[in-house]
Amino acid sequence: MLNDVKVVIINPTYNEKENISRLIPILQEEFKKISHEMHILVVDDNSPDGTAEIVKDLMKVSSNIHLITGQKQGLGAAYIRGMIYAMEKLGADAVMEMDADFSHKPEDVKRLIAELDKGFDFVIGSRYVPGGTIPREWGFFRRMNSKFGNIFARFVAGLYHVHDCTAGFRAIKTDLLKKFDLGSIRAQGYSFQMNLLYQAVNHGAKVKEVPVDFIDRKMGQSKLGLSDIAEFMLNAWMIRFERSETFLKFAIVGSSGVLVNLGVLWFLHDVLKTSDLIASPFAVEASIFSNFVLNNYWTFGGRNRYVTDRFFKKFVKFNLVSLTALVITFSIFYILTRFFGVYYLLAQMGGIALAMFWNYFVNLNWTWNIKSNIKE
Ligand code: GDD
Ligand code: MN
Repeated sequence: MLNDVKVVIINPTYNEKENISRLIPILQEEFKKISHEMHILVVDDNSPDGTAEIVKDLMKVSSNIHLITGQKQGLGAAYIRGMIYAMEKLGADAVMEMDADFSHKPEDVKRLIAELDKGFDFVIGSRYVPGGTIPREWGFFRRMNSKFGNIFARFVAGLYHVHDCTAGFRAIKTDLLKKFDLGSIRAQGYSFQMNLLYQAVNHGAKVKEVPVDFIDRKMGQSKLGLSDIAEFMLNAWMIRFERSETFLKFAIVGSSGVLVNLGVLWFLHDVLKTSDLIASPFAVEASIFSNFVLNNYWTFGGRNRYVTDRFFKKFVKFNLVSLTALVITFSIFYILTRFFGVYYLLAQMGGIALAMFWNYFVNLNWTWNIKSNIKE
């Protein structure tokens, strides 16, 4: 990025009087080591402790500090408001998420921004990659909460490739944020972190995790509550559900392929009187082609903007996957009938079912791959 790049650090606050008054001057010192135009945007939800007044005082002497206030609706709601303001009113090229309670080290700001400069769009200050840490002081519940949150995000929501999906320390290019509708993110609370990451991955973001130490706050208290945990789990399942819609489409296309296969076979054999030894493989390839076209424009249609492979290359990959599926179906058929005495039609169905999951998984992650963008 160039030197006239504007980066806005968003600090959401709720009763962070003691913290924000110290954090802002320290950040200002850090900014001297960064070659971009650095700003701070505090999103305060009318904190009763007078956080906003402290920020207003600091604003009198610095022009790069900004404040917006609002009703308390949760961390996610605050970030959404802040990001929209940073893009529309401040013209930010990149925004950062950062807690106001010193859990994120000010000296790490420049490390995250350095990765944006290298070309990444979505940089995560990660506690769960080698080198990253969580506080020793964290009790059992806090640890489990964070660990389970990430397990949910990775294995329920399907963000397998990212290790810290709930981190609140991130640097994001606004070119990426503008690609999707921030307002459509339903998460009001902490779940926002996972939902935003999901959107980013879906829109082909180049994601990078940078190890950081997460420091336990010394002043004030955490606002993470039970309703946040409930919202988080619900949202993880909602994301999973959205993904099953893709799987359902894939299964429908697969079934349509059977009809194409049989239809073409009948046409070649009965109408054109072709030999069945030519008609059969031709019918198979015809159904592979029709499956490919339907998947390309319908099942994975939304992903295509972010898939780098062209039509023909994807078609070749799709054929290879279909070939492996044939091997899988046949192996299962062989094993079940020969070693377990399973009835041949059932054995074939077992093979088809396994091959379908395999097909889906490999096509999603390889043929129509957009995840290759994620780097650790
Ligand atoms: N404006 C606003 N509104 N700010 C809020 C709200 C809210 O409803 N809730 C929390 N904040 C602010 C806090 O004042 C603080 O600056 C920051 O958001 C983080 O809140 P904490 O309450 O300190 O969060 P935490 O330490 O429990 O959680 C951290 O870890 C989570 C994952 O384990 C944060 O980094 C989260 O972002 C992260 O998801
Ligand atoms: Mn905190």
